[in-house]
Amino acid sequence: MAEIDEKRANLFYSEIPQQADLFFLKGCNSLDWGMKNRLARIFNSSTGRTVMLAFDHGYFQGPTSGLERIDLSILPLISYADSIMLTRGILRTIIPASTTKSVVLRVSGGSSILKELSNEGLVVDIEEAIRLNACALAVQVFIGGEYEKETVLNMTKLVDVGTRYGIPTLAVTAVGREMQRDARYFRLACRICAELGAHFIKTYYVEEDFETVTASCPVPIVIAGGKKIPEFEALKMAYRAIQEGAAGVDMGRNIFQSNYPEAMIQAVRAVVHQNETPEKAYALYQELAATRTKA
Ligand code: R5P
Repeated sequence: MAEIDEKRANLFYSEIPQQADLFFLKGCNSLDWGMKNRLARIFNSSTGRTVMLAFDHGYFQGPTSGLERIDLSILPLISYADSIMLTRGILRTIIPASTTKSVVLRVSGGSSILKELSNEGLVVDIEEAIRLNACALAVQVFIGGEYEKETVLNMTKLVDVGTRYGIPTLAVTAVGREMQRDARYFRLACRICAELGAHFIKTYYVEEDFETVTASCPVPIVIAGGKKIPEFEALKMAYRAIQEGAAGVDMGRNIFQSNYPEAMIQAVRAVVHQNETPEKAYALYQELAATRTKA
């Protein structure tokens, strides 16, 4: 045995130092392996960005427009997304377990559109999230909201328990009905979430000074789409957000409420992963829409 080992000594390549790569996502280098691996299933490591498809809206607003039949409206879109954001109820009942898409599981809730929205708690325990193979846990944080403190503490509890098992937390900076949406507000909200441990943050795009929101946040930011706007406008918003430092989108209504959702999600992908301009992405949308049936 000793003789065989000597013959193979050159395979140790002692002159080549082992590489020590930095992890590709901002602020995530010091995380543990499992946490990084889960983030790498949400964010594409080639572009450092993600197209998350959000369809968790039913957790507080029921079968909203476009989500009446998730099996019919959303399943055909999933192959174009890097990740899906949803509740455990929809995951278990509608999403085939054969999917390889990473799951960002909505774990806060308890309020409805009929009452105070910020009055949320954690509604999924960690064992359930592990059982469902979640890659991240999403929690709503209402900075400035009536239940601000409770929602911040929901997030920090989740960060602690998720960290124990290597599951990242996505903090969603929720804007209540009356709250002002500007860069100053989102700088405040995103920074609080990051300082208190969120691993990535979902926020809204604002036309003015959005780059100050991304620059002052030490972890990746993805933008929500917000209310449905014309496709070209939504592509412009996604483009600007990406160029101003967002690491992707977590978009719902502007995809599934589009007349041509499959065309729209592919156009959004082009903006996010190929830096396509809104004009070219919109041309792609129109081209793909022309071959498809209206939703
Ligand atoms: C909202 O509370 C939900 O978490 C949605 O996932 C989020 O608002 C993103 O969806 P949309 O692009 O429709 O705003």
